[in-house]
Amino acid sequence: MLKVYAPDASKILRRFSAGETAELLGISASHLRKLHFEERIPEVETSAGGRRSYALADINAIRDALETAARAAGKPTGQFRPGRRPGDPLQVLSFLNFKGGSGKTTSSIHVAQRLALKGYRVLAVDIDPQASLTTLFGYRPEYDFLDSGTIYDALRYDEPVPIAQVIRKTYFDGLDLAPGGLILQEFEHETPQALIAQVTPPFFARMAAVLAEVEAEYDVVVIDCPPQLGYMTMSALCASTGVLVTVVPNMLDIASMSQFLQMTSSLLEVVSGAGASMEFDFLRFLINRYEPHDGPQQQMVAFLRQLFGDEVMVTTMLKSTAISDAGLTQQTLYEIERAQFHRTTYDRAVESLNLVNDEVESLIAKAWGR
Ligand SMILES: Nc1ncnc2c1ncn2[C@@H]1O[C@H](COP(=O)(O)OP(=O)(O)OP(=O)(O)O)[C@@H](O)[C@H]1O
Ligand SMILES: [Mg+2]
Repeated sequence: MLKVYAPDASKILRRFSAGETAELLGISASHLRKLHFEERIPEVETSAGGRRSYALADINAIRDALETAARAAGKPTGQFRPGRRPGDPLQVLSFLNFKGGSGKTTSSIHVAQRLALKGYRVLAVDIDPQASLTTLFGYRPEYDFLDSGTIYDALRYDEPVPIAQVIRKTYFDGLDLAPGGLILQEFEHETPQALIAQVTPPFFARMAAVLAEVEAEYDVVVIDCPPQLGYMTMSALCASTGVLVTVVPNMLDIASMSQFLQMTSSLLEVVSGAGASMEFDFLRFLINRYEPHDGPQQQMVAFLRQLFGDEVMVTTMLKSTAISDAGLTQQTLYEIERAQFHRTTYDRAVESLNLVNDEVESLIAKAWGR
């Protein structure tokens, strides 16, 4: 059985083996050993049997040591810290669809964690009043952020606080969280009045303005949107450089998605008319919970590819009990140890996740002109 977190337990991330660490660093296990032997990187915890284990913070310290060494030797940098280089704009990715349960939260947290594991500096922003993303990070939004402490505090019209005041470090080194909670709904209620009173910036420019405050500290921002197209979602879209629309390939989901797309595009036209700028580097459909052996699903995916061409991601996220079981205990596949699952189930799910996340990473790299 998976371990269930007591409501007040704060989460910690497991340690990684030398093999996993080498893979995350993009080097071979023997090269990693050699780096330790030559004392070119910081030493880590070693078991009595001589096995090294790495916390994510250790891996990031190794990254920084290797980058510093490369710089000192006049070699190309960025191999171990693949994030922004001078002139690269912050990437803001929104996970969107107003179909509930299409996998926005699951996809966004796995992308955010994977990018953090690869050495990007990531900020996850939860703009869903249901706050599932915040819950996955080990918080209890209904207690921890009942009156304050969410992204709403930074976005609100009267007496907003700097976003730095609500951002929290997480148990993933390099991955921070701007929490969500029920109070986010206030923004929906207050916006009509603020529009009449012409409060600046207007709703659609507020997320971009707030993110600009901490822009230098991150490479990528991942926004988990609620299953509705409210003012806060539109504000997130206006701040976005990339949009991922999660789709489950079945008839009902696709029918509601097409409705969603029509609504989105007409709403976006309205806000564009009001002076919002909306230029995405990319918009992609991310097929989630795909069952490749299901005939009707295959047809649906083929249909989507025909309709949207390159806008449908090449890789698909498979339906997996490993993902839903992990979710039941508020965990992700990157947190859970492989030993907790049937091997093939785990491996299949992680492989699919990694392929999807690598494709997202390559879209980011492309936006940076690489
Ligand atoms: N690839 C997958 N395989 C199996 N289960 C999945 C997969 N992706 C998501 N799920 C499960 O489906 C449920 C809904 O996923 P999730 O919460 O990510 O959707 P959502 O779009 O964020 O929902 P909401 O609209 O309510 O915010 C969760 O229980 C999750 O564990
Ligand atoms: Mg969600």
